[in-house]
Amino acid sequence: MYQEIDLEIDLDKIDIHAEPPIEEPARQYYFMAKCRKWVKGFEQRNGHLPKSCVLNFGCQMNARDSEKLRGILREIGYIETAEDEADFVIYNTCTVRENANTRVYGRLGQLKPRKKKNPHMMIGLCGCMMQEPEVVEKLKKSYRFVDIIFGTHNIYKFAELLSTRLESERMVVDIWKDTDKIVENLPNQRKYGFKSGINIMFGCNNFCSYCIVPYVRGRERSRAPQEIIGEIKRLVADGVSEVMLLGQNVNSYGKTLNTPMTFAKLLQEIEKVDGLQRIRFMTSHPKDLSDELIEVMGNSKKICKHLHLPVQSGSTDILTKMNRRYTKEQYLSLVEKIRKAVPDISLTTDIIVGFPGETEADFEETLDVVRKVQYDSAFTFIYSKRTGTPAAVMENQVPEEVIKNRFDRLLKEVQTIAAKACAVHEGTVKEVLVEDICDHDPKMVTGRLSNNLLVHFYGGKELIGTYVDVLLKECRGFYYIGEMAEAGKAS
Ligand code: SAH
Ligand code: SF4
Ligand code: F3S
Repeated sequence: MYQEIDLEIDLDKIDIHAEPPIEEPARQYYFMAKCRKWVKGFEQRNGHLPKSCVLNFGCQMNARDSEKLRGILREIGYIETAEDEADFVIYNTCTVRENANTRVYGRLGQLKPRKKKNPHMMIGLCGCMMQEPEVVEKLKKSYRFVDIIFGTHNIYKFAELLSTRLESERMVVDIWKDTDKIVENLPNQRKYGFKSGINIMFGCNNFCSYCIVPYVRGRERSRAPQEIIGEIKRLVADGVSEVMLLGQNVNSYGKTLNTPMTFAKLLQEIEKVDGLQRIRFMTSHPKDLSDELIEVMGNSKKICKHLHLPVQSGSTDILTKMNRRYTKEQYLSLVEKIRKAVPDISLTTDIIVGFPGETEADFEETLDVVRKVQYDSAFTFIYSKRTGTPAAVMENQVPEEVIKNRFDRLLKEVQTIAAKACAVHEGTVKEVLVEDICDHDPKMVTGRLSNNLLVHFYGGKELIGTYVDVLLKECRGFYYIGEMAEAGKAS
């Protein structure tokens, strides 16, 4: 685990008997100091430090938020552990599809008997699901054993909320409807030493008619470019060489800044950071993908050869009902433009099956796009009705068995095409950033190509975090088995 502390703050020097500061992040450091005092008391009473576990149920943005929570917990003095050993379990929830909510309730049910046995235990819930008023009502009524509930807008206040809970012994609930605030310079604890996600913007203004994200993440706001560059420079100084820029729609980055800036310009600034080797980003909305961005990608040495470009549906009718604001033809010509500018780019996508009113002909259009684009991989989702979104009350909801049949057909098509797309690299030597020991064979390591493909090859843990040229020997559908090649041979 890699702790990033952005400010040189010594928690032990903070006077916790004084009034808490009003400004952020000083206020949160004050509450971290208070919590740390409690942690020391816990250690004296119990003979060990309290243990915590933050579990993540959502997308990469949620994952980055979890790193912020872990960073704060570590500053306070908690030791990180597995869920079944933790005195403090936090679920950072997602609500993009109904099954995400179901999973959380299921796991909460399992925590209840554990909490009964262990009076020290605390349970925290945060993230997107908590932004839904009916969820919080249900928790308050039927899940009284939960200790802290907060949302996506006030995650920076975690130390303050924890401190309140430790003093009051009562359920603490704090949910904000929205915010225009971005609090910088709080601790962070990232999983890998050599790569990191970085928020470049928060929220979403697109209101795709099926999607709950704009309601639970609030309005779009961009971080100031100097904050982003500053964070990247600190990360690089700390050993990071690959960054993933995160936002629901990175292509509209900078529109709401006092001095507006395009995403393409931001990328050019980031490219200048010495020591940074790879830049990734997600997610790109097709309607906002500019010619300027395509040009920057084409000329860049550091931007990875991978673009995640969610299409959602291939039918212009359905795209209109989804409020995606592009047609099938516009999407296809965009793909053509990108392929021309960056010939070896890998394209991936998200597709929803069974949006209200989707006919067999609409679905055929989706299959047609999949065949035309030849995606390197695609995430396929069954449409899930989200209360409060316009699509939830649309007529002609598609019957379950029809959706299931389409979903299976789509998956088969996507997998066949992806295997073919993956296989084209067989026999070439490519640069790989080694990420981990291979899950299936401890004598092998796993790394990623610039185009995001995974490769397993024989090697030891000393390679983790380094760039290695690897011969791609055998394609196994969506990953490669490779062999270390002579340095400098990569194409
Ligand atoms: N901001 C990103 C996507 C965030 S959600 C974008 O616009 O591309 C990730 C994916 O979940 C979406 O691309 C979509 O395919 C899927 N999704 C969102 N809402 C959904 C719903 N109600 N049912 C099924 N899939 C959904
Ligand atoms: Fe949801 Fe659309 Fe925003 Fe993506 S762009 S988060 S799909 S509303
Ligand atoms: Fe889920 Fe929230 Fe991400 S709803 S997909 S965790 S923004």
